Amino acid sequence: MIVLYNSVSVLEAQPLIAPIVPVISNGPSGICLSYLLSGYTPYLSPDASHPNPLLHSKLREQPHLSLLEQDLEYLCEGLEGRSSNPVAVLFDSLLLPDSDFGLEHASPLAWRYEPERATPHLVLGKGPPGGAWHAMEGSMLTLSLANWMELPGLKLKDWMREKRRNVRNDRATPAEIASYYQHYVSQMSLGQSFASRTTVTSVTRQPGNQEGSPPCWRVTGLQRREGEELGDGSSVSEEVPFSLLAHSVVLATGTHDIPARLGVEGESLPFVCHSFWELENAISRGELDQSSDPVLVVGAGLTAADAVLAAHHLNTPVYHAFRRSVTDPGLIFNQLPKLLYPEYHKVSSRALKPSYLSFPRHRVVAFRPDRKCVLESDSGQRTVVQVSMALVLIGAHPNLSFLPENGRPLGVNPDEPISCRRNPIEVDPFTCGVVSADGPGMYAMGPLVGENFVRFLKGGALAIACDLAKRQREEREGGGDLMMDRWADRKVTRHTETEVCVLDL
Ligand SMILES: *[C@@H]1O[C@H](CO)[C@@H](O)[C@H](O)[C@H]1NC(C)=O
Repeated sequence: MIVLYNSVSVLEAQPLIAPIVPVISNGPSGICLSYLLSGYTPYLSPDASHPNPLLHSKLREQPHLSLLEQDLEYLCEGLEGRSSNPVAVLFDSLLLPDSDFGLEHASPLAWRYEPERATPHLVLGKGPPGGAWHAMEGSMLTLSLANWMELPGLKLKDWMREKRRNVRNDRATPAEIASYYQHYVSQMSLGQSFASRTTVTSVTRQPGNQEGSPPCWRVTGLQRREGEELGDGSSVSEEVPFSLLAHSVVLATGTHDIPARLGVEGESLPFVCHSFWELENAISRGELDQSSDPVLVVGAGLTAADAVLAAHHLNTPVYHAFRRSVTDPGLIFNQLPKLLYPEYHKVSSRALKPSYLSFPRHRVVAFRPDRKCVLESDSGQRTVVQVSMALVLIGAHPNLSFLPENGRPLGVNPDEPISCRRNPIEVDPFTCGVVSADGPGMYAMGPLVGENFVRFLKGGALAIACDLAKRQREEREGGGDLMMDRWADRKVTRHTETEVCVLDL
């Protein structure tokens, strides 16, 4: 494990400048980027073919070059797929050709481990690598096909087959996915680039100074450390501040930190919950069964759908309120393939058990302390329902408190909070460089730029790794040290009480 040290003496023993790219958050985005930055390099394998003839012939033009050295914009031209991000479509079609047609065409990529290409980086995360997956709303994971969740170089299916004897279908549980990501980090030996138990508290642009230090990014935060052991075997943990200077920084956090709220009367009452795990807790405490008053689920996204199912499995009656109409193609039930998710279609079909009652085109007007909820239809008709608990599952926002104004100025619409679906961070599609950043070298990927599925966030990792590699090549050719990331700088240490360097223990 990596410990971020705040000892100035250790710091001074280190070289003044070291290249390192901080990556904020260690979920699938950070892990995937770490893989590409650690020297795992994709090439077109000599005898491979790609089902898309145009892409195939473009790849054949310079087969000696890795994908990281190619012109992504050129390769992306004319490709179409389920993501609006062109590099995501490209990488996906190289990793899983034709998967949307249910075909399993072998990937034409051959991965070579070339550690000399590695870009030093540091993935900063609160929990263990990939562990954010545990905290994520259950639905996002179980709803995706297993191969949509996998990272390059380790087949999720093979890994699952090893773990459990008979794989009934392609779906994996959240715990399995979390464990797969953790295993991935150790299997690929990425661990030395991961610093866990860290919370980033600020990312700011630091201007250059007269002594010749170029402008750079400053990333500060806290790392929790186990302190001395007490007599009873327990230990006190302490939070130690750290600070890194770098020319590039990658924002790779998820967007599930802060649940969205309806903003209606009574929403803070204890029976009104805003996350799936509160339902799971109630279930595990045995608070819900078939004699319970119904659970009200508000929302029509994946998480809401999973909550409906979870309650349904317990035979707890469900009221389901959402704004769309039942026939709206945007409604999640109408988007899922029937074959893979029969139970969703069971719930949404007309032949409903009496234990499920939907309120399409309804909104919540108020929650009352006696556990009554007031619903109102589009036409203004009100219905009052008695519930045991209410789950408001209408989306979430990322916690970007480490950025000025919570990152709003970086959004497509700078007046709104950042969110995956409504207001992602605006990036250059071919580099993932943040368009409105305070300086060059800030990147964003994953849900922050609107990619919720692991299947497509890999494209962001490719775009960033490509751009960093390009900048390194330019740096080498230019011979200057401007592009070298400054890691710990003695001059700065004099100005602040705690400066940090990074050690691998
Ligand atoms: C956002 O994250 C910071 C740092 O981890 C934390 O102190 C703060 O409470 C979080 N905000 C919300 C609304 O969760």
